[in-house]
Amino acid sequence: MQVNGKNYHTIWVHPDNKQIIQVIDQRKIPFEFQIVNLKTPEDAFEAIKNMTVRGAPLIGVTGAYGIYLGLISGDDKNWKANLEKSAEYLKSARPTAVNLALLIDEMMHKLAGCTTIEQACIMALEEANRMKLREIAWSEAIGNYGCELIEAISKKKNGQPVNILTHCNAGWLACIDWGTATAPMYKAFLKGIPIHVWVDETRPRNQGARLTAWELSQEGVPHTVIPDNAGGHLMQHGLVDLCIVGSDRTTSTGDVANKIGTYLKALAASENNIPFYVALPSSSIDFTMKDGIHEIPIEQRDGEEVSHMEGKLENGEIKKIRIVNELSPVANYGFDVTPAKYVTGLITERGICKADRDDILRLFPEKKD
Ligand code: MRU
Repeated sequence: MQVNGKNYHTIWVHPDNKQIIQVIDQRKIPFEFQIVNLKTPEDAFEAIKNMTVRGAPLIGVTGAYGIYLGLISGDDKNWKANLEKSAEYLKSARPTAVNLALLIDEMMHKLAGCTTIEQACIMALEEANRMKLREIAWSEAIGNYGCELIEAISKKKNGQPVNILTHCNAGWLACIDWGTATAPMYKAFLKGIPIHVWVDETRPRNQGARLTAWELSQEGVPHTVIPDNAGGHLMQHGLVDLCIVGSDRTTSTGDVANKIGTYLKALAASENNIPFYVALPSSSIDFTMKDGIHEIPIEQRDGEEVSHMEGKLENGEIKKIRIVNELSPVANYGFDVTPAKYVTGLITERGICKADRDDILRLFPEKKD
């Protein structure tokens, strides 16, 4: 998607040096646009952990490139043992998004047959590139299926703008290109369907206010940033036609882990009879889990994300300030689980299904056990 009129992905191989992987530093957006070089698995681990890169599909692909970086930067003699270590190490960077573990496992499976480090390096790069392109294709397919939902609502509204509420950033930044939740919005916008997006600010890290709003403004999509607690009011007053959010891990039964606060939006949508869709690629589905609330690990992050906020001063200086008194404890749960019963449907790369095991398996029959 576009940054100041130029097309970008969120991760790519350095054009002049394939030993370097480049990523957009998402901690700096919207105030600065910086590109960061990753040269070792430690660099990839840190980038995932400190949220230079973030969003489930992107951290999965960064993990895959991290395996490649481990092979090219490690010692040749113990490469097989080091490979195993890198895989476990990279997987531990963030716990909730299943993409990270799934893509690393897939990569390890592919590399299992390699007999030399040279062969493994070539294959790891090819695989990571393939996974990246696959995520892009999946996001675009999600966009096409989700666009049909928006188009149907637009027809009912006789061309009045369709108001879509989204939470966090399940945009192209989180997914390399197109996004998951945002892909249907971009597709509808490009098709000339009038839309307007309500962007939840998404405390504590403000991925909505900082990232989604920036993405949408770069593409010229009409949108408005709202405080996280405004959604219920807007829904009661007929100002939301549809909610679309992303997912970090969805169980085989359709329970959805997504950025903290998603569950409350789903409850409000259900109370107000507003369709609540989750857009996700199959790399975010955990077919081994059945009970999202009890099985999905929920990341707890540094309390400083709650007690402090970062912003830009009038003089251009970027500053972090304290907003909670020093004596009060804070808690920072990164994700919550929306039970399947509140999810109208899942928009996947293979089409839209109900958030239940049978319908998910109808789209992904190869996952039946
Ligand atoms: O903590 P983050 O920013 O990595 O959280 C991930 C998310 O952006 C969301 O939860 C998103 O909706 C799903 S990822 C496409």
